[in-house]
Amino acid sequence: MCSCVICGIGGYLPSNVVTNDMLSLTLDTSDQWISERTGIKERRIISDEESTSDMACSAAEVAIEDAGVSAEDIDLIIVATSTADNTFPAAATKVQKKLGAFGAIAFDLNAACSGFLFALDVARSYIKLGNIKTALVIGADSLSKVVDWSDRSTAVLFGDGAGAFLLRAGHSSENSLKGVIASRLYTNGRGYGFLYVSGGPGTTRTSGTIKMSGREVFKEAVTQMEKLCFAVLDDAGIDMSGVDIIVPHQANKRIIDLLAQRFDAKDKMVCSIASHSNTCAASVPLALWSNYGGALALSGKTVLFVAFGAGFTAGACVAKF
Ligand code: ACO
Repeated sequence: MCSCVICGIGGYLPSNVVTNDMLSLTLDTSDQWISERTGIKERRIISDEESTSDMACSAAEVAIEDAGVSAEDIDLIIVATSTADNTFPAAATKVQKKLGAFGAIAFDLNAACSGFLFALDVARSYIKLGNIKTALVIGADSLSKVVDWSDRSTAVLFGDGAGAFLLRAGHSSENSLKGVIASRLYTNGRGYGFLYVSGGPGTTRTSGTIKMSGREVFKEAVTQMEKLCFAVLDDAGIDMSGVDIIVPHQANKRIIDLLAQRFDAKDKMVCSIASHSNTCAASVPLALWSNYGGALALSGKTVLFVAFGAGFTAGACVAKF
């Protein structure tokens, strides 16, 4: 079986910075509350002229260049998103067109904030089976377009961005295991009502806005991410001491700190929430890219990725660079 090697990493953030102080001009909130409860200091917000697929494409171009491949080499494009430009066609088809990657199969996947790790798992399966050689996996979201900007309990939490991995088939021997070593996904539909967007073409014919029971989501996020990390490490045949870097979903600094405590791995945690806020499906690849740049900087490192999102959904993955 082929291994699935992460050869390129890319990211994109819109230029418009919105600080906590700026939000407190229109909302009954403060920099102190947001910083203490979430660790967020600022977020990037997309302009009306930009769309999710534009961000996805920009992140993809960086990942493609990092991997040193050309767009014609790409066999599969998956865009993980909850905020595609249109209800259909998929944002991935726009990305395919813009990149000129006409040899690729392209589709979107929605698993909210866990979407990127779901897409990575799907692409890995295609590669491992030998069906394709090169895949582009993108997480991109502009949740600012579905935030209720008058609701302080959610408006302060989210921002926009995109992140991407370029994956290629490799042939690893047991001794030089490189690539995505193990991957686990989790879905629990009982969590549907705790975090959702209150509309959609199939119900209200509108896009709706984000609604969240913060405390319940917080508890479930910590519980499931912890469980899934230990399960996927077990699958990979290593324990936490064999992990160099942990990239958790960037939803709340207190969640990241709790996981660090339970893993006894404070120094391994990647944290970009202060400047990115929660960018949904983009959060995991964006955090890695903004901290390490390209794949070369991670050479030889074992990385544990973990995410949690609406659904409830969760994903965890171990990869060796
Ligand atoms: N500014 C000031 N006060 C606020 C704000 C705000 N922005 N928001 C809420 N408050 C108030 C509340 O009204 C409440 O006031 P009260 O005590 O007078 O009733 C008080 O602050 C405490 O509110 P809580 O909601 O209990 O605050 P909590 O400490 O739970 O923090 C938060 C809320 C940040 C949302 C937290 O619960 C959280 O991070 N939850 C998890 C989010 C998450 O993990 N999401 C992941 C998936 S996202 C996806 O899939 C799209």
